[in-house]
Amino acid sequence: MKTLLGQLQDKVADAFERLGLDRAFGAVERSRRPDLGQFQNSGAMQAAKAARKPPRAIAEAVAADLRADPAFADVSIAGPGFLNLSLTDDALAAWAATVATDPRAGCPKAAAPQTVVLDFGGPNVAKAMHVGHLRSSIIGDTLQRLFRFAGHTVHSDIHLGDWGLQMGMLLEEMKRTRPDLVYFDADFHGPYPDVSPVTIDDLQEMYPRAAARCKEDEGARREARLATAELQGGRAGYVALWRHFVAATRASLEVDFDRLDVHFDYWYGESTVNDRLPEVVATLERGGFLEESEGARVVHVARDGDKHEVPPLIIEKGDGGYTYGATDLATIQMRVADFAPDLILYVVDQRQHLHFEQVFRAAQRSGIAGAARLQHVGFGTVNGPDGKPFKTRAGGVLKLGDLIEMATAEARARLDEAGLAKDADDAEKAGTADRVGVAAVRYADLMNERTSDYVFEFAKFTRFEGNTGPYLLYATVRVKSLLRKAAELGATPGAVLPPRTEVERALLLQLAGFGDVVADAIDKRLPHFLCEHAFTLAREFSRFWQGESILKESDEALRASRLGLSRMVHDQLEVILGLLGIRTVERM
Ligand code: ARG
Repeated sequence: MKTLLGQLQDKVADAFERLGLDRAFGAVERSRRPDLGQFQNSGAMQAAKAARKPPRAIAEAVAADLRADPAFADVSIAGPGFLNLSLTDDALAAWAATVATDPRAGCPKAAAPQTVVLDFGGPNVAKAMHVGHLRSSIIGDTLQRLFRFAGHTVHSDIHLGDWGLQMGMLLEEMKRTRPDLVYFDADFHGPYPDVSPVTIDDLQEMYPRAAARCKEDEGARREARLATAELQGGRAGYVALWRHFVAATRASLEVDFDRLDVHFDYWYGESTVNDRLPEVVATLERGGFLEESEGARVVHVARDGDKHEVPPLIIEKGDGGYTYGATDLATIQMRVADFAPDLILYVVDQRQHLHFEQVFRAAQRSGIAGAARLQHVGFGTVNGPDGKPFKTRAGGVLKLGDLIEMATAEARARLDEAGLAKDADDAEKAGTADRVGVAAVRYADLMNERTSDYVFEFAKFTRFEGNTGPYLLYATVRVKSLLRKAAELGATPGAVLPPRTEVERALLLQLAGFGDVVADAIDKRLPHFLCEHAFTLAREFSRFWQGESILKESDEALRASRLGLSRMVHDQLEVILGLLGIRTVERM
């Protein structure tokens, strides 16, 4: 199956080919001037040089060829040789018939399925997730859904920050406040207690305290480094206590991620590759990639022609500790061994760009990356109204759980304000508020171009009007209830007739664009394309609904056709919301 645009592209490529020109000139896109045509092609301009002919003459020849095809209502030439193409209403209806009840809403699977590792989320043990982790989680999860939908194999990994100096800081802080615990008793040989001596709240409260102490006190810093080294060296009491830190963090993360409908196949962490680190160092050493520099061991990654300075990747620090870069290299080695991926994507804050550039170069230079392509999928910062990285009023990070609570409360207020979910009982209302809240949070993040910063404006995200998650959810529920009402009246959706109005035509064309948008969003790793498509679709549908009678239409074929079109819109919106990770409700 191909998208409508894909089919059209084949026709135009055929025409170029018949003229002895390259098929690639047949590329077609949705027209930016719908008044001139539904689609456009600019191949004649590109072909002119190779063909040694004026572009206009090439366009004329292609147009003459295409006009023989009854699928075209209009083929015209504009400017120096742009082709404007419009399909007949019959051709649009014929396309609708092929995908009317397609569970994929007209989106073909990728021609060349790939194996992809997605690294996203990346929260840290004991630290509250900040909005940056939230972005990573939402964008990463949506990319995971998109790639899978297109037929790729995805292995997703949260890559928990569970191994660095923070762990030593926490161990030392525990030792200071609760020296009596068996974990610190050198004469104790286990087994260690199953019950955690700390909750996630304890940890989140301990961490800033420990961090502050280390910042001020060189002695505390040294002890934390020592504890980290002992943990990484396998000291039993430390490992047992650290396991509790990780488990408590994970349990709390799972609650939040579940509410956001964010999922990971693997809960690996930096610690997972601890045993591989010596091997990675050995590999680097054998290949002659490891060099001494100011007491540290580094891999040089600068290249001729670099436009900015790319410093060497530090693998081992002077004190023998491995770095964030070392664990990332070892993680690549593990992923290549376990999954043989074509591609590894890192959905991480743009501000870590240099780190990934260094890691990727080191992985390529040393052969650790194998055949895997590595790509940093960076994203911009979430800012507060003051234009600075978002903080709570108290100046701290906003905890994810609190954020979801806030969103749900706000959603509930908005539902009441709009008089929605009026007839629902308390449980249903709470469920709806929950989904509206999550829709607001997820969509707000996804609708902004990934690389740009955005301002966190809660009141705006939860509105039912405008380009928001709640609007899209509401629009979907509205079509759903239209279809339900139709069923109650015994009216069934039927074959979509050739469109008779501009509104119907626009709606069909919008529906037909879905598969292309999915492909684009995947290629460029830009989920906001999907948001734009969905928002336009919902708006086009509401125009259609306002302009045409649907249930009241007396001509049965026409009513069935309009219901058929409504069902297509509904089904596509459901698929899209699924891709965006927004759960729908039955009614509102
Ligand atoms: N834990 C890291 C942080 O909070 C993000 C991890 C990103 N993934 C990676 N493979 N380095 O900044």
